[in-house]
Amino acid sequence: MSTVAVDALDAIQAVDPEIADLIHKEEQRQADSIRLIASENYTSKAVMQATGSVLTNKYSEGYPGKRYYEGQEFIDQIEQLAIDRAKALFKMDHANVQPLSGSPANQAVYMALLEPGDKVMGMHLAHGGHLTHGWKVNFSGKLFDSVQYTVSEKDHLLDYEAIREMAIKEKPKMIWAGISGYPRYVDFEKFGAIAKEVGAYLIADVAHISGLVITGNHPDPSPYVDVITTTTHKTLRGPRGGMFLCKEEHAAALDKAVFPCLQGGPHNHTTAAIAVALKEAASPDYSVYCGQIIKNAKALAAALQEEGFDIVTGGTDNHLMLVDVTSKGLGGREAASALNKAGVVCNSNAIPFDPRKPWDPSGLRIGTPAVTSRGMKEEEMKTIAKWISEVLANIQDEGTQTRVKREVKELCDQFPAPGIAS
Ligand SMILES: Cc1ncc(COP(=O)(O)O)c(C=O)c1O
Repeated sequence: MSTVAVDALDAIQAVDPEIADLIHKEEQRQADSIRLIASENYTSKAVMQATGSVLTNKYSEGYPGKRYYEGQEFIDQIEQLAIDRAKALFKMDHANVQPLSGSPANQAVYMALLEPGDKVMGMHLAHGGHLTHGWKVNFSGKLFDSVQYTVSEKDHLLDYEAIREMAIKEKPKMIWAGISGYPRYVDFEKFGAIAKEVGAYLIADVAHISGLVITGNHPDPSPYVDVITTTTHKTLRGPRGGMFLCKEEHAAALDKAVFPCLQGGPHNHTTAAIAVALKEAASPDYSVYCGQIIKNAKALAAALQEEGFDIVTGGTDNHLMLVDVTSKGLGGREAASALNKAGVVCNSNAIPFDPRKPWDPSGLRIGTPAVTSRGMKEEEMKTIAKWISEVLANIQDEGTQTRVKREVKELCDQFPAPGIAS
């Protein structure tokens, strides 16, 4: 039986054995399970070392070359490297790597380009958008006049003519294009034409798909948008963090929105880890990895269909799929919970026009970034589909869950998790 490396926890063990024990258990859980949460991944050891470095000790309010405290000679170089690498990969004029995560990056965009009460248009949460794209209980829906577009009732795809008509009628000042739970390409060129026609800012939130975008595995928003925002911890495989990239004309306003408007000192340890992740993302291996994420997602969706599952839109173009478990007589929450007990971890998710409540929706969201980081390929996706099918067909049967959990561990041992396995 393989166990994960624990030597790095020695210091925590000495000070706080309770926390050391819980970190170790979480490490083992990540090593021993099939992680299919579409927004999660395994970072490299290099990214984790930067995250756990002395850079956490330093205050650096401001930006490279213009800081409010002394002692920035190395921090400036680190942040500048992260900025330069981000600009090169995303093909935009300007980058800011300081937002503390994806939602704060999006908050900065609203803060810089709009006034409270302005009209914004974003994708409905239950149709694949994100909370920060105008959802009513989020700051974006509370402080701004939000209208939400949906996918088409006919085929559950984005209907660009309907989005255009809504934009012409509503005249938003800002349009958000980006997904958390939509399994198909986003046509940024069409969004660009719509935004231009109505005079709106266009923001691409590529949090989920940033790795696919920068490796040419998803249409590129850069020619059409005012701003690109992203998290750094999903397909990009960096530390938990956020960043945005924009046209030069928005650079000053957006930088000021981060500091001094929304944040104080940047998290320099995270900035360094983002720089490392971006260096890794520029490598040919990473391009191959992103291509394989999609191959795996397509293979998993096809194998699940063969097992009789309904896949929303009939498949996927990206790293995720939505599985409607209604025809199996199940709800998403009970299905996700049973799978978790068997070591297959995903999340319940609303499907478009879901008749069930958001807390207990009809679907599962399943993504392949993490299993692909372990080196799994199409063959392993078939095995995973079979496990999902077996567990859900015998949802009350603890024996099936225990057996699948054992088989999951055996497969995981053959595909060591980056950043974890000794
Ligand atoms: C499209 C999109 N934007 C923004 C975010 C927010 O990121 P965070 O959770 O880091 O605030 C997410 C997170 O899942 C996302 O999917």
